[in-house]
Amino acid sequence: MTTIPVLTIDGPSGAGKGTVSRAIARQLGWHYLDSGSIYRSLAIGCLQADLDLNNIEAVCQVAETMQLSFDCGETLQVKLNGQDITPLLGTEQVGNTASIVAAYPAVRALLLQKQKDFQQLPGLVADGRDMGSVVFPDAQFKVYLTASAEERASRRYKQLIEKGIDANLDQITLEIQERDQRDQQRATAPLMIPEGAQVIDSSSLSIQQVIDQVINLVH
Ligand code: DC
Repeated sequence: MTTIPVLTIDGPSGAGKGTVSRAIARQLGWHYLDSGSIYRSLAIGCLQADLDLNNIEAVCQVAETMQLSFDCGETLQVKLNGQDITPLLGTEQVGNTASIVAAYPAVRALLLQKQKDFQQLPGLVADGRDMGSVVFPDAQFKVYLTASAEERASRRYKQLIEKGIDANLDQITLEIQERDQRDQQRATAPLMIPEGAQVIDSSSLSIQQVIDQVINLVH
């Protein structure tokens, strides 16, 4: 049996996982799983249906029936039931809603196989919160990428300002802290350092320095 290599990159939101994972997948010629975008797509499905997010059964119904397609070209494009939802994926509202629906164990169980299916030759870079702990516990390479909440909030703030979007640094810091707390304290598949993972703190590193450290690990 061939073991398809997997590199998992877990960590809190805003640590740079997406940028680093995409660059590494491109460099290695491996597939890329942005598991957050699956939870974000579900969040969009729930918001579009105007669901009560406390209604677990209704949320599960969306998770079970949604049809997702991913196109991982230069940038990630996602279709939900045939509709291109790419422009909606990155908003704060969608990120926060994703964190709420992702806390339901039944939702996570429904989305587990969708994520495992990404493990294809020649290899996979999987980015998320529970990649190394739950979805790919046997992964050969595991990284936990983190940075201080203040640094992550300040990066997010700069991104928004560069895009011409009005932003408030204190508000973003607060939201990041709330999201960390919810992701870390939920009962199922909480954000944690997976066993065997190398911890990289990106607070004072450039993106390129992080990429180099991770590539060294795989080689
Ligand atoms: O990585 P992200 O910001 O796109 O993720 C959005 C939310 O989805 C995050 O706050 C928690 C949830 N998530 C999760 O529970 N498990 C994952 N593997 C990835 C994301």
